Amino acid sequence: MSPRGIANPSGRHAVYCLGVLASGGGTNLQAILDRTASGRLPARVGVVIGNNSRSGALVRARRAGVPAIHLSGRTHPQPGALDRAIAETLRFHGVNLVVLAGYMKKLGPATLAMHRNRIVNIHPALLPAFGGRGMYGDRVHEAVVQSGAQVSGATVHLVDEEYDTGPIILQRRIRVAPDDTPDSLARRVLAVEHELYPEAIRLFAEGRIRIDGRKVEILD
Ligand code: GRF
Repeated sequence: MSPRGIANPSGRHAVYCLGVLASGGGTNLQAILDRTASGRLPARVGVVIGNNSRSGALVRARRAGVPAIHLSGRTHPQPGALDRAIAETLRFHGVNLVVLAGYMKKLGPATLAMHRNRIVNIHPALLPAFGGRGMYGDRVHEAVVQSGAQVSGATVHLVDEEYDTGPIILQRRIRVAPDDTPDSLARRVLAVEHELYPEAIRLFAEGRIRIDGRKVEILD
């Protein structure tokens, strides 16, 4: 079996398939789409799910010819129905890795169980610092600047039942300048995210991530 693909039932090798969940503007999604399209990332985006029907992420997915599906508490109001719909959509599209890219909702037990150790998130700070419930978007960078921290950065981590507590896959640090504002810091961290997330996804696609409990090993 190719390290870059999985054998599908017909015996042929399928390209490693990503299912991206996003709520917002979708610049991380775009970075991933650009790199898969140009062959720099050995994967394809099989489906994008958004909980906000007007999100930039869904627009970007459609523009790239990727199935873009709105699933939310509005489309699935019954308890548990949204979770089951997300799990089923990811299964239907043959997703190997679930990529949260600015997804503002917690995943439910069906989705978590179906993709254990195969769900990643990106956070705009160096976890475990500046993470947890309520720490998202501008709030993260405001807290970093306010704290006087001299470094910040981005973290790609596995997703578990809690906010931002899953094992860390990759981090990249940047220096916080004395005159940084939350906005200027956010811009620089986002640029780092656009490089770091595809790099982490590549490790999964190449079969180079070994997970044992909370221990993550990156294979050469
Ligand atoms: C990023 O800052 C990411 O770290 C956080 O949500 C933001 C999403 O931005 N989880 P975008 O929608 O990818 O532009």
